[in-house]
Amino acid sequence: MKRMALAAAALVATLAVYAQTTDDEIATMRLAPLDQEREPPRIADVIDSDDRRPRIHPMQPPTIPHKIDNYQVDLRANRCLSCHSRTRVAETRAPMVSVTHYVDRGGIVLAEVSPRRYFCTQCHAPQTDAKLLVENTFEDVADMLSGDRKEE
Ligand code: HEC
Ligand code: HEC
Repeated sequence: MKRMALAAAALVATLAVYAQTTDDEIATMRLAPLDQEREPPRIADVIDSDDRRPRIHPMQPPTIPHKIDNYQVDLRANRCLSCHSRTRVAETRAPMVSVTHYVDRGGIVLAEVSPRRYFCTQCHAPQTDAKLLVENTFEDVADMLSGDRKEE
């Protein structure tokens, strides 16, 4: 019973927030209340600046700073590795995939990129100039440690 009352209260609170939000603030892919038609937003452009981006923590797969349109990655070919593999980087000037990409799940370092790291876009994604749907207040741990924190 108590649970149901809590759930009802949560629903009322959500609806109250929804009623106050303007179009711009609604954090859904639709970007408009359900009862309104909206011009479909422009398809966002992929950022192709070639600037490598900082990582938010050491184990983050770095984001891709270039376009990857039509780069084939399947059983027969891996276009990413034609630039990023150990044997190609001298020529292409691309950063080499790190050693973790050569380690299999048993911890053995292989001569070739490990199958579990073969499908690059499982982990690495290009970025677009799309508007953020939801603000976030992420703080880098380095800022936290140095005391240089954002104001609440
Ligand atoms: C034609 C060569 C080429 C191809 C093909 C290519 N890349 Fe790159 N990539 C680069 C270069 C060069 C950089 C360094 C930044 C720059 O100059 O764009 C880079 C940067 C990156 C980075 C950033 C690394 C970091 O430490 O910040 C990632 C991740 C990446 N590429 C992933 C991919 C993936 C995934 C694919 C396939 C879908 C791919 N690349 C295909 C040349 C290539
Ligand atoms: C299972 C997730 C995963 C897959 C699949 C994967 N990566 Fe990564 N990648 C990572 C992570 C995590 C890092 C950062 C830590 C590290 O080096 O392992 C990284 C780092 C990198 C870097 C930066 C290396 C450096 O030393 O700065 C490049 C370039 C890269 N990956 C390219 C690729 C390419 C090309 C492929 C496909 C052949 C690929 N990755 C597949 C997770 C992945």
